[in-house]
Amino acid sequence: MKKWNVATVRAAKGVEKLGCCTAYDACFARLADEAGVPIILVGDSMGMSALGYATTLPVNLSDTLAAVGAVARATKDAMVVGDMPFGSYQCGDDAAVANAVAVIKAGADAVKLEGGVSVCGLIRRLTTAGIPVLAHVGMTPQCVNSYGGFKRQGKTREAAEQVLADAQAVEAAGAFAVTLECIPAELAAQITAALRIVTIGIGAGPVCDAQWLVMHDLLGLNEQVPSFVRQYAHLAETVRGAFAAYVNEVKTGAFPL
Ligand code: KIV
Repeated sequence: MKKWNVATVRAAKGVEKLGCCTAYDACFARLADEAGVPIILVGDSMGMSALGYATTLPVNLSDTLAAVGAVARATKDAMVVGDMPFGSYQCGDDAAVANAVAVIKAGADAVKLEGGVSVCGLIRRLTTAGIPVLAHVGMTPQCVNSYGGFKRQGKTREAAEQVLADAQAVEAAGAFAVTLECIPAELAAQITAALRIVTIGIGAGPVCDAQWLVMHDLLGLNEQVPSFVRQYAHLAETVRGAFAAYVNEVKTGAFPL
């Protein structure tokens, strides 16, 4: 198997659709890597899926660095992308570059950050410094308080034009790929056709070059999932059953023998 990188991801556009997902620890990252997932995102969705928060906002850089290290150590072929948590790049570009450097030193091959036109200066600085950037436009969960909830974006003509402008701006600034989150499928298709870089959709319809799913949604570890998710396993049920069987067997003396 080849090691996925910026060049192979770029080359996949129009050739091969990529099913990508998140992981936050070595165990699941190894399994995703062995299964052929091309890009593993150490997403700040870790805050909601693994750390028990209601939003991604409380995730700290130290959480991300620990998780990126674990995922990178367990991964051979996948490209590992470290998500810059809230506060780690809204703090001035010098501090943001230092924080992105820390994510790369922890083991990531690239960083992801949310925003369009407003973060293009930072994307230019990072790419010039040799740090590949995966951008993220549309519904950007770190803006949950500005939206008043996790709300679909790009629904009016003006809003759709803004998302398109954001996507074109991050491409021009040097991003090697862009996440399109929770926007209408027709808008995602229009952006995918307009850009030379790979679009990775989540809740953005089938026409994107690639897709993300949050690992806990994909595996059925999260039992409440957004309507666009497809669950490829129902692990919550399996895991709960295994724990209950263990507790019961210890209680009854069936284990250990
Ligand atoms: O944090 C995350 O998991 C993400 C994906 C939803 C793209 O940003």
